[in-house]
Amino acid sequence: MGRLIVVSNRVSAPTDPAAGSAGGLAMALSAALRKYDGLWFGWSGETVDHFTGEAKIEDRAGVTVALVDLESQDVDEYYNGYANKTLWPLFHHRVDLTTYERSYGEGYERVNRRFAEVLAPMIEPDDIIWVHDYHLIPMARDLRRLGITNRIGFFLHTPWPARQLLVTLPHHRRLVESLFAYDLVGFHTREWLDLFTDYVVTEARGDVTGENGLECFGRVVQTGVYPIGIDVEGFIAAGDSALGRRTYDRMMSSTAFRSLLVGVDRLDYSKGLEQRLVGYEQFLADNPDMRSQVLLLQVTPISRDEVDSYQDIRGRLDSLAGRINGAYAEMDWQPIRYLNRTYRRDQLAGIYRAARVGLVTPLRDGMNLVAKEYVAAQDPANPGVLILSRFAGAAEQMGEALLVNPFSREELSEAIKQALTMPLAERIRKWKALMQVVRDTDVSIWRDDFVGALKAVKIVGDGGAPF
Ligand code: G6P
Repeated sequence: MGRLIVVSNRVSAPTDPAAGSAGGLAMALSAALRKYDGLWFGWSGETVDHFTGEAKIEDRAGVTVALVDLESQDVDEYYNGYANKTLWPLFHHRVDLTTYERSYGEGYERVNRRFAEVLAPMIEPDDIIWVHDYHLIPMARDLRRLGITNRIGFFLHTPWPARQLLVTLPHHRRLVESLFAYDLVGFHTREWLDLFTDYVVTEARGDVTGENGLECFGRVVQTGVYPIGIDVEGFIAAGDSALGRRTYDRMMSSTAFRSLLVGVDRLDYSKGLEQRLVGYEQFLADNPDMRSQVLLLQVTPISRDEVDSYQDIRGRLDSLAGRINGAYAEMDWQPIRYLNRTYRRDQLAGIYRAARVGLVTPLRDGMNLVAKEYVAAQDPANPGVLILSRFAGAAEQMGEALLVNPFSREELSEAIKQALTMPLAERIRKWKALMQVVRDTDVSIWRDDFVGALKAVKIVGDGGAPF
């Protein structure tokens, strides 16, 4: 049986899986790579003066990783540029933040080509290749041009944008056409797949073919919906670990019988953090009697801080959190604890369990795994309530959460009040339904479904032929 080759911009295989910093996705892919004797290929995170055309091979806890250094111009144009100033905002419906710079597109194409050139000689005939996320959409096309005919699948971890927005991207057809060099293209939700299909059919004049196929640009690609999940047992065990329990106890004593609301998000404008704080402020204004009984812990690690829009939102959040605390705090209480740092998985599990309300309110999100982690961490006898944006991919499955429109401060305020006053029986009923969804979408199911479907794709016509 052939190997599995995973390709992603960031190679997150943990050096020490016991250290607790790796997420569920990294653990699940690492486990598959151990099982299939595979390889994880991507950017090292390092820059060099001159691109060497070679990968550094390392062993990380039994997983072979192949890491490529990039030149700083590559990082500026490909990672900070096209990936994070062009595709990320566009795919998250923020055309107002999207930069359309020709040099970024050129850097993106160059880095994809470079990655393909380094990876191609490592590929053996029976290998299957799984490419991840918006950084690497053209990878399969570049591999095909180098004569690679293996099965190649692509999974998008972000939303797919509406056609009316995608066409604002110069060379949008070229980007979509390159997806037709894959054998299988997967999305988290039916909504993202429908938007992709709409572009192909309406803009590119393609056709739906067979049960899950699309035909366009003279090629056929299979598509599918594969909702990602978390490592459920691993996350529950993390909460039960000594550090998980200690963190829970510490949170409970530091909240001093107040109800804790928790949010955990990278510092990203797609996460709706400003709107969340404004909604919480509205709740404080609407419910003076409940004020000193609540506390919001917002854990927000800094992210992509070389990009202007990320620096801007960071400044706005600093001032908003400061303003709300300044306006509402008492000598012995402040409404918001705002932290720019990360926590280990076991600590997060302890924090989530201590929180009566989980706030997951992105303006747009591919899936959002915090929603699933929050549910998995709850005490079944006294579970908290998940407030979830209807614009997160997770909302397609997690309808038992309190679904909100994160753009409305009044709706957020009302949902917080409803969550805090929800009777125990209703909390338990909702939690059970949500926990079933979390179990049914375990990350290992997601991984095995995608890899199984990629292996099963019937290659039609000249699939795999050079582009
Ligand atoms: C999102 C993307 C991932 C990315 C992660 C962290 O989840 O879908 O591909 O790795 O954000 O962002 P970063 O730019 O730090 O890799």
